[in-house]
Amino acid sequence: MDHVTGLKCVVCGEEYDVGDVVYVCPKHGADGILDVQYDYAKIQGRVSPRSLSDSAQSAPRSIWRYTPLLPVDPLILAGLHDGRQPVHPLFSVGWTPLYRNPQLSERAGVAEVYVKNDGLMPSASLKDRASAVALLKALELEREIIAGASTGNAASSLATLSASLGIRSIIFVPAAAPQAKIAQLLVCGATVLAVDGTYDQAFDLCLAASTKYGWYNRNTAYNPYMTEGKKTAGYEICEQLGWQVPDRIFVGVGDGCIIGGLHKAFKDMLALGWTDRMPRLMGVQAAGSAALYSAWKQRIDPLDISPIEAHTIADSISAGLPRDRVKATRAVVETDGAFVSVSDEEILDAIPVLGRDAGVFAEPAGAAPYAGLKKAVSSGLVSPHERVVLLVTGNGLKDVASAIKSTGSPTVIEPTSEAVDKALDTLT
Ligand SMILES: Cc1ncc(COP(=O)(O)O)c(C=O)c1O
Ligand SMILES: [Zn+2]
Repeated sequence: MDHVTGLKCVVCGEEYDVGDVVYVCPKHGADGILDVQYDYAKIQGRVSPRSLSDSAQSAPRSIWRYTPLLPVDPLILAGLHDGRQPVHPLFSVGWTPLYRNPQLSERAGVAEVYVKNDGLMPSASLKDRASAVALLKALELEREIIAGASTGNAASSLATLSASLGIRSIIFVPAAAPQAKIAQLLVCGATVLAVDGTYDQAFDLCLAASTKYGWYNRNTAYNPYMTEGKKTAGYEICEQLGWQVPDRIFVGVGDGCIIGGLHKAFKDMLALGWTDRMPRLMGVQAAGSAALYSAWKQRIDPLDISPIEAHTIADSISAGLPRDRVKATRAVVETDGAFVSVSDEEILDAIPVLGRDAGVFAEPAGAAPYAGLKKAVSSGLVSPHERVVLLVTGNGLKDVASAIKSTGSPTVIEPTSEAVDKALDTLT
């Protein structure tokens, strides 16, 4: 891990040695999120776009193809591999497909629309990228218990990936999280504390209990390594486009850790000389959970944001006080991107559009990027010649109730051929 040089507080800029701090800046508490610093000269000698394409056959088709850019010890990863066959779903995290979709381009009125489908991960959401890194850190620190609070996906991801690794996961989720996400936790053997309250309350309870009982904590935007796992989606987008930088990337934003990770990926690649520009990052928030959008619009410092009561059908991007607000705001401002706010209705409308045009089944937060693109085009933010990527962060099977809300129920018929004929007459 000689390529990691320190951890830098996003509030005061103080840099700490990796061994000195586990989570946040001691001076700034939960606001003082730490950003992992790298020695780019060292990394340049270890990996490059050329080395990745030359080893196309042997480079892992997972996030681990970027191990030299991650804050993990490669020996720990190697210890989980038997040399012939992957021995754990950890090895299938990442390298999700990126599809160019002409139907969506035409519908949205932009030159090129790509869909990256992170719903195809082991636990069916982008969160696996972060949980994989969290678990390697827990192994490195020899911690047997890992805890996390989550709107649902980070938790189900942690539960899925910790299963069979000999690490127990303790999860705090809002009791109102979609059933499928809770089922994933239970099936994978997590200890589940379903909090009769909000995600923000679950987050605080998890932090307090982790400190009290000495568990390793995976909370988003508290554990500095989560955004590092999430940044791999940015590397993949760039590599899958032949190391071309898209004009914009649309992503759903709750706490802001994913968009912060995308920003980090493109900053890394710029620093390494792999790319020569940044994409504009477009953070899509649900109107009922749009603290970052509102602050950005009114030019309020993200550290001065007051908590709101968040309500949206897109449970994964429901956050009353976005924890990674500093990084998320910097991601948008420094790339000359924008936040976009979309209603629940617009999010629901986007679900069948992605399904019908692209064959991608997204949960509400995963469909929000398409709703955001539509809105950004209609408000003149995006020009027709642009190449945009929609990052679908979660699978629609996670929240079937919302999916059915977006389409309506199917036609039920009597089990007779007359009923088939009659139904076909009305359906076609
Ligand atoms: C499917 C999905 N999309 C988007 C997000 C938002 O990520 P962040 O909270 O890092 O902004 C999440 C987070 O839970 C998620 O699960
Ligand atoms: Zn600080």
